Parts: sequence; structure tokens; C-alpha cells
Amino acid sequence: MGAENDIHADSRNDPHSYANPREIRVMHVALDLDVSFEGKTLAGSALLSIDRLAADADRLVVDTRDLTIRRVEASDSSGNFSLTAFELGGSDPILGAPLSISLPADAAAVRVHYATSPGASGLQWLDPPQTAGKLHPFLFTQSQAIHARSWIPLQDSPGVRVTYTATIRTPPELRAVMSAELAEAPSGTPPGEHRFVMEQPIPPYLIALAVGDLVFEPMSERTGVWAEPAVVQRAAREFEDTESMMQAVESLYGSYRWGRYDLLVLPPSFPFGGMENPRLTFVTPTILAGDKSLVSLVAHELAHSWSGNLVSNATWRDFWLNEGFTVYVENRIQEAVFGRERALMEATLEVQELEAELARLQPADQLLHLDLNGRDPDEGFTSVPYIKGMLFLLSLETVAGRPAFDAFLRSYFDHFAFQSITTEDFLKYLGETLLKENPAIARRVPIARWISEPGLPDDFPRPASDAFSKVREEARRWLAGEAALGNIATREWVTQQWLHFLRALPDNLDEARLRELDEEFGFSRSGNSEILHQWLLIAVRNEFADANEELEHFLTSVGRRKFLKPLYEELVKTPDGLARATKIYDKAKAGYHPIAAATIEDILRGADQ
Ligand code: BES
Ligand code: ZN
Repeated sequence: MGAENDIHADSRNDPHSYANPREIRVMHVALDLDVSFEGKTLAGSALLSIDRLAADADRLVVDTRDLTIRRVEASDSSGNFSLTAFELGGSDPILGAPLSISLPADAAAVRVHYATSPGASGLQWLDPPQTAGKLHPFLFTQSQAIHARSWIPLQDSPGVRVTYTATIRTPPELRAVMSAELAEAPSGTPPGEHRFVMEQPIPPYLIALAVGDLVFEPMSERTGVWAEPAVVQRAAREFEDTESMMQAVESLYGSYRWGRYDLLVLPPSFPFGGMENPRLTFVTPTILAGDKSLVSLVAHELAHSWSGNLVSNATWRDFWLNEGFTVYVENRIQEAVFGRERALMEATLEVQELEAELARLQPADQLLHLDLNGRDPDEGFTSVPYIKGMLFLLSLETVAGRPAFDAFLRSYFDHFAFQSITTEDFLKYLGETLLKENPAIARRVPIARWISEPGLPDDFPRPASDAFSKVREEARRWLAGEAALGNIATREWVTQQWLHFLRALPDNLDEARLRELDEEFGFSRSGNSEILHQWLLIAVRNEFADANEELEHFLTSVGRRKFLKPLYEELVKTPDGLARATKIYDKAKAGYHPIAAATIEDILRGADQ
């Protein structure tokens, strides 16, 4: 095992931050920001309260990316601020630039006056046509993994947890929401000024802000939806089971510790499915299917309130601690709220995705404990931390038995609550608890193999669903000419079965068969984004021209990277497809988030060579 693959190396050291938290640590961030849609900037100040861990340290180092630093002040012991010297280092394409601030001996806080750049990687500024209402602009942040530094100068490492407050000034007709509690506005507060408080220490990647024409619809005492007026009712109906989901996790792993749990529905350019910003999950509108069939994404983001937000990865190489645990908990929520068959179907689809991706990934990228030194942490965003991570926990559950494994997870969340931990911390705790009580587990689950070797162990517990066996049988009957499409038994099929059906079809289908499928089932008119996406993939793969218009519409109206990436990858495989992809991208790119645009540009560039 090489040194870089040794989980006993200095595992707490974060290669994706320039900060010096072991000498001087930021404990609290107080933001005061003006939102300018004209200039596409946030401008104002961040007050950073510090804790001195090394008595002789005289510089605070924070992360920045594309920030204009106007001036920096430090406070003396009586709280008076005066200018202090600072130096902004050279900018690295992945990490941004370190900001090094001179600290007088008695300084307890610094205030950085700054502005963001219009191209800030963590911000997306939308023009009115890109919103549901078409009348007002919209802004949202996406800080994970290392984009908080593009809108706040701070120690941008998940190991450095902070509390925060914020005063945000917006145009008066708009509303700001954050991953924090909305604070009472003192009397005389001008319209457009919004205040927030997050009292629990969170990693910087969970600091989040959105501004737009937003309204609120409650769903239960502690859950509700923020969205544009045109969307909010539909969203509140779609997500009405959120309270039941919360109760399901609480009965497994202990109380929800964040007060409220609300959802914010973003415009369609949101590059992810969901983002677990504390108290306020951000979600794509593409999960509004009308029949609650895609709410496993809500279960996922909610699960992060335990796995990820309460117990966080200390560095991005420990990302599987966030996502693998979360997919495991997500599946438990789905099972509790929608039943075992639905959970099994969803897990089966997930494992299919993992196996397809493993077939393409370099062995080094197939490990749970990744080496991301010198790389963009976003490169760790594959099915491996998610689904392989989930399967590892499922294999522990299978051998330990549910009662013992449930008790273990509950104690794990309590033990590490509000901490950021490494893979090593997890393994040590596992060894001291579950494995100690039940030594047979360590003999039967190849733990080191799961963590530090590529692929999957031979005998991993593979989820399987009876409902899917039926789907495969019906597909087979049609393909073998034993039954017409109209006569195969699809009446009771749920979304997950349709997805399985589409994936079970052979890679190559001729035009007549594709037309038959679409005429019978209307896939190209599906209001379910997952089904439509799966259908469009088949259409592109088979160069099915009937779907061209629908494809272009999809690629120019949706910015969710998980949907865009496979479609562009499939398109660029042929010269004609590459030409079309390039044309569509030119039209669509203004509406894509910088993160999604960068991914698509990589695909187009790679294909052009
Ligand atoms: N935290 C992630 C999103 C993320 C990860 C953003 C890494 C940036 C860097 C979120 O919880 C997530 O996993 N979202 C998934 C959906 C989920 C159901 C698998 C997504 O957006 O696709
Ligand atoms: Zn997640």
C-alpha cells in the first residue's frame, strides 16, 4: 500500500484548503452582504471570529476564489476595529487563492470587506426568463464541495465547522432564504433586509443562500416548501410525506436536531438533484412528477441531516462517509414510508448504475477512500462513494443483523454529533463497538477490501426485486415476438418499473421498434423527468430522429448535470451527434450553472480530439 493510500497518514490534513485552522481557527462568520442583480455581485463584509490554538501564530489564512478584497480590519481586545495588512496569494485553478491576514497580538476577530465576481463558481445568477414566473431574477449558491470560498472568504474545509449569522439586503420585492433560522427583524428594518442565524456549527460547504420571488407553503408543524408562486402548491403536494419521513428516521437514529426542515424548489438550471443545506434542502424542480414517484431524493437530502450535516466528512477523501451513509439511510426511509418493494426497486436501480460506472472508472477511482490530492474534489462525485458506500453498510447490516446495526448507527450519530470525521475515525469506532460485540463480523465482511480496493467484493448483498423480474419477463415476451406491446402486462407499473423496463431493452433497437414503443407508451411526452431522460438516452443511442426536437428541448430547459452528462456523452459518439451537441450547447450554456457547463465543455472538448 503506497503512502498516499494509507489511511493512517495525516488524515485530517485537507489538501483542498490553504487555511491554517490548527494554528488559528475561525469559529463564527457574520455576513453582511448586498445582493446586486445588475452587477451580479455580492458585496459587503464577513466578520470572522477566531480561536488561537498556537500562541505564536500571527497570521490567519483563509480561502478565496475570484474575490475582490477591499480592505481588512482586525479588532483589538475592546472590540475596536482598525485596518490590518493582508496578502492575497496567486490563484490556483482548483483551490483559488489564499488570503493571509496579519493578526495583532490581541485580535479576536477580523472583518474582510469584499465583493464577489460575476463568474463566481458557487453562485448562479438567473435572468427572469430562466425562472418559473419569468418576471424576477433569481440567485442561488452551491457551496459544496469547495465553492463557499467564491462567495465568502473563510477556512473552506469541511473539518472547520462554524456557526454563522447573516444580514442580506435584496431588492425589496424579493426574498432571501438561507440554511439558517430566519431571525426576527428589529422594528424599522427596511424592506429587503433579511437576517439569519445558524447556531449549530456546520462545515462551510453547507452555508447557502437563495434570492428570488419566493413564497412559503407549510406542510406540517416543522416542514414546508419555499418556491416561486407558480410552483409552490404543486411542490407542497408532492412532498407532503416529508414529515412521515422525518419520523421514520427519528425512530431509527434519534431526534432531528435542526429545528425546521424546509425544502426550496429551485429553477430548472439547478445543477444537482438536491443539496442538503441544513434546515433548507435545495431541490431541482425535475422531481415534481405529480405522483411522488421521485421523492427518494427528499429522503436522501433529509437523511443528510444525520449523515453529513450532523456527522460530516473531515476532508473530501472521506466523502463516502457523507454519501454512502446517506444512501443507506435514504433506502431505510423509503422502506419505512413506501414499503419494502419500492425500497428494493430503488436500491436495485442504484446498483445497476454503480456497476455500469465501475466498468468505466479507473481502478484508483473505485476505492471508497479516495486519493484526491491535486485533483478537483468534484471528481470524487461518482456512484462509488454513494452506492458502493451504501453496499458496504448493507453488508455490515446483513451480517450483524438489523437490530445490532441500527443500534450501532444510532450510537455513531450521537457519538460524533456536530463533528467532522475521517474514514479512520469511523473504522476505529466500528472496531470499538460493533466489531467488538460481534467479532464474527470482521471475519465475514472484508472491511479493508471495501475501503481500499477497487470493485466490489464477490459476495456482496445484491438487492433484487420481484417486481423487476416481472418487468424483464414482459420485455422479453415483446422482444421475442410472443406478445404485442399492447398486450404485455404494464397496467400496474410504477415509475421504477418503467425505468427498469427501459434499461432492460437491448442497446440497439431499430426505428420501427422505437416508434412502436413511443406510440404505445408515450415516453417522449412523459411528465416524469427520469423516464423521459431514460427514453432520450435510448433515442440518442439509436439515432432516432423522431426524438430530436424533444431532446433539444430537454437539453435547453434542464440544467441538472446528472441528466445532461449522459446525454451529451452519448451524442458526441458520432460526428453528426457531436455537431448537434455543440449547437445545442451553444444555445443552452447561458442557462447552465458553471459546474454543469464545465462538465459539458469537458465532454465536447474530449470528443473533438
Ligand atoms: N450533497 C450532494 C450533492 C453534491 C455532492 C453537490 C458533491 C456537490 C458536490 C447531494 O446530497 C446529492 O447527493 N444529490 C444527488 C441526489 C441523490 C438522490 C443521489 C444529486 O444531486 O444527484
Ligand atoms: Zn447526498
